[in-house]
Amino acid sequence: MTVARLTIGRPDDWHLHLRDGAALAAVVAHTAAVFGRAIVMPNLKPPVRTTAEALAYRERIRAATPAGAAFEPLMTLYLTGTTPAAEIDRAVASQAIIGVKYYPAGATTNSDAGVRDLAEAGAVLERMQELDLPLLVHGEVTDPAVDTFDREACFIDRVLAPLVRRLPRLRIVFEHATTREAVAFVKDHAHLAATLTPQHLLLNRTAMFTGGLRPHLYCLPVLKRESHREALIEAAVSGSPQFFLGTDSAPHGRSAKEAACGCAGVYSAHAALPLYAEAFESMGRLDRLEGFASQHGPAYYRLPRNHGTVTLVREEWTVPESYDFGSDRLVPFRAGETLNWRVAEDAP
Ligand code: NCD
Ligand code: ZN
Repeated sequence: MTVARLTIGRPDDWHLHLRDGAALAAVVAHTAAVFGRAIVMPNLKPPVRTTAEALAYRERIRAATPAGAAFEPLMTLYLTGTTPAAEIDRAVASQAIIGVKYYPAGATTNSDAGVRDLAEAGAVLERMQELDLPLLVHGEVTDPAVDTFDREACFIDRVLAPLVRRLPRLRIVFEHATTREAVAFVKDHAHLAATLTPQHLLLNRTAMFTGGLRPHLYCLPVLKRESHREALIEAAVSGSPQFFLGTDSAPHGRSAKEAACGCAGVYSAHAALPLYAEAFESMGRLDRLEGFASQHGPAYYRLPRNHGTVTLVREEWTVPESYDFGSDRLVPFRAGETLNWRVAEDAP
């Protein structure tokens, strides 16, 4: 039976890039219209490395958020080789920092300041375990000898498994998991969790090359083959509280994407919930969307669920070809295509 409406508790986005300045002003309304909270990634230029910088960034996000939106940005710190353990104390005391993001240096957009070797951050990670502040990982090795499509699985063997052995109580979120190996590793460790993006649930790597090269489908970690997508969607609809919504919506101007060396990132905030609904419906499991979008994340991060609800209605709409993006344009996921689900605002 096909349903025409679905009302769920107000969801959260547990992995989001909002950028800064004109880009921030261009995109934040999409997220704030639907989500109660979002974990905002710290990979600005320069990165958000201290609690003070994160609090200042939070103010800029609040100032750019449309008046009346009940949206709370949850902040992260960017782990570097020189982050002092005392920064973890300041982060926890502020009650504004939800976790620390680990980017292997050079793994993705604005990750040059990331950690080259996790051993550099030993004292910080121990303090995080002690104070129970989660580590959010971009799970890819950067070794140029490792094939791009194998970098996530290799990260598990070389970095994550040893880390979990060394700090067995540190809570770790495997951000934007893209492989069956990541799903299996998370399932095997009850104190770990993973976020899953709409594009990795809906597409495999062939989509990047269908009819020609599709730069707007290029993100990191890169889309994988179909058997991995199947493992991800099965995890998403399984009802396991270890898997929850994190769009990894990552806006880049059209000129940076449609370039000889195009940058990584898919923008999905304009249609995040409809895209997840499509993925869950493809498995006949729309009934599991609420857990994934609105309940598992707060449980993992030990936060209350949001007040209020949002309703998805089965109603076709066409995604714009592009959105305003400062002096450039932003080409969203599924630009110009028709989606079957639309978000209708509920009374607060
Ligand atoms: C992200 C970005 O553009 O900031 N890009 C991406 O492809 N996902 C960085 C990241 O999360 O890896
Ligand atoms: Zn990201």
